[in-house]
Amino acid sequence: MQKHQYEVVVVGAGGAGLTAALYASKTASTAVISKLYPTRSHTGAAQGGIGAALANTEEDHAEWHAFDTVKGSDYLGDQEAIDFMAEEAIDAVLELEHMGLPFSRNPDGTIAQRPFGGHTNNDTGKPVRRACYAADRTGHMILQTLYQQSIKNKVKFFDEFYVIDLLIVDGKTAGVIALELKTGEMHIFQSKTVIIATGGHGRVWEITSNAYSYTGDGVALTLRRGIPAEDMEFFQFHPTGIHKMGILITEGVRGEGGVMINGEGERFMERYAPTVKDLASRDVISRAMYLEIKDGRGIDGKNYLYMDVTPDVVNHYAEIDDRKNPDGSPYRVTADEILSKLPDIIDFCETYIGINPIADPMPVQPTAHYAMGGIPTNKYGEVVVDEKDTVLPGLYAAGEVACVSVHGANRLGTNALLDLIVFGKYSGLKAAEYSAREPFPDLPKDPAAFAMQQLDSIRNSNGNENMIEIADEMKKVMFEHVGVFRVEEGMQIAVDKVRQLKERFKEVRVDDKGLKFNNNLIEAWELSNLLDIAEVTAVSALARTESRGAHSRDDYKKRDDKKWLKHTLAWMENGGVRLGYKPVHITNYKPKDRSY
Ligand code: FUM
Repeated sequence: MQKHQYEVVVVGAGGAGLTAALYASKTASTAVISKLYPTRSHTGAAQGGIGAALANTEEDHAEWHAFDTVKGSDYLGDQEAIDFMAEEAIDAVLELEHMGLPFSRNPDGTIAQRPFGGHTNNDTGKPVRRACYAADRTGHMILQTLYQQSIKNKVKFFDEFYVIDLLIVDGKTAGVIALELKTGEMHIFQSKTVIIATGGHGRVWEITSNAYSYTGDGVALTLRRGIPAEDMEFFQFHPTGIHKMGILITEGVRGEGGVMINGEGERFMERYAPTVKDLASRDVISRAMYLEIKDGRGIDGKNYLYMDVTPDVVNHYAEIDDRKNPDGSPYRVTADEILSKLPDIIDFCETYIGINPIADPMPVQPTAHYAMGGIPTNKYGEVVVDEKDTVLPGLYAAGEVACVSVHGANRLGTNALLDLIVFGKYSGLKAAEYSAREPFPDLPKDPAAFAMQQLDSIRNSNGNENMIEIADEMKKVMFEHVGVFRVEEGMQIAVDKVRQLKERFKEVRVDDKGLKFNNNLIEAWELSNLLDIAEVTAVSALARTESRGAHSRDDYKKRDDKKWLKHTLAWMENGGVRLGYKPVHITNYKPKDRSY
């Protein structure tokens, strides 16, 4: 078994992992372990923009950004952390610009900004241009820029290595155990600190915008080491996934004036969010879509709606809304302008469904998109492990895998990319600081034992269960019963079903018994992670008897601040899930009703 020693080990090479590595590597020896080649990480799928109140074309303030984020979170976000993120946003974007990120530009050379759901001028309630973008490839550009900078900073990369276990000795972080895909060999990484940045777990659901790699590895491996997961019941469904496929159609389409249309040709969002309409927050739009479909107003009565960005439709509604350009002239678009601002969307639709969005509307349905919950951290990325926010020394988490919590019950678009950069940076800086003052920890006696046990139990199973069937059944039950709308009976069905699937998984058949490039084994291990996460999600959701943000219950339709203004903590214990709760940090903004 090969042994490596680094002061900082970062797990995951998406936006959060690369930012963390970049900052940590300024003063500490730093390695990044990634199951993918870094530029294939899921950050590359983020399209529409990164939020920052630059005010390049109209009045905006970090305080407005903070308030919109609190309101978007349905008041479950921790306000101190939200203020911090909104204030840091401006420097974060300028830093990316200075690293060479090719942002789209305004005529005066400043970074271009577009409106996005839930981001408003707090005086008028109208949409504000806050999303800084690089066409509809913002995440891709961020990833490329950060990877180049990390290489320049001599960060050491271990690509196509799967971190199977986290080492904790005497209550302190001691490193990780990883499987090298090429050889099947286990590697021991002894480290003073570990930063987990493995992204989300959208593959729990049937229709998702998430990459195949989004299997919740970071949350699963910390759960197995006794660390709780926070607010797992809050999972965001993005309103506009390509029908049946789930591939993301960016909210930037609506930012550029696109409108949602039902089967009767109506712009239905006028009924649900009269002020911001198609630019309401995602939970509001996904629920509106569900209700339209339920009431028979889907396209041809089916389970999808239209996202229309054809220039005539955009211009028609821009006139009705009296939408203006920054110079005060009427907002109107041409086909060429749409093409230059949304090239990937047009390409995806032509490639996958044979539709040209400049000529025809796109068929869309809500798609599982983003985990608001995850590994609990404070605003410096330090992992906190109980109701009192006790820090586990040397362990950090950043990006989608973490729950700071800045997104609370519902994340605003553009705040995911921002979260990666801000909390990636601080977790990297804090890990390097910690490394400078702490010696290397001792390793446990047989460090790879638990990792080996997990993989061997899958590899050596003599059972006959098919992992694709188990995965499909999990995805279906979670999509149907722990999706956009939820009720007690359905969630209980999901809990029971996932528990049965976990039992069946013990008999899973892996045909490849070899060592090298054993994707079969790895996919089974990833499925075991998804199953744990599905159980924790469904149990957390079942317990929360209110509707808040993305957790929307038909049997408890109202938000209940008296009983539920608190974060859920879920531990995996004794073959089940134990729940606890901790308070929300409220500073400036007292909970109010939420309307858009
Ligand atoms: O719609 C989008 O472009 C997605 C952005 C986000 O999730 O923040």
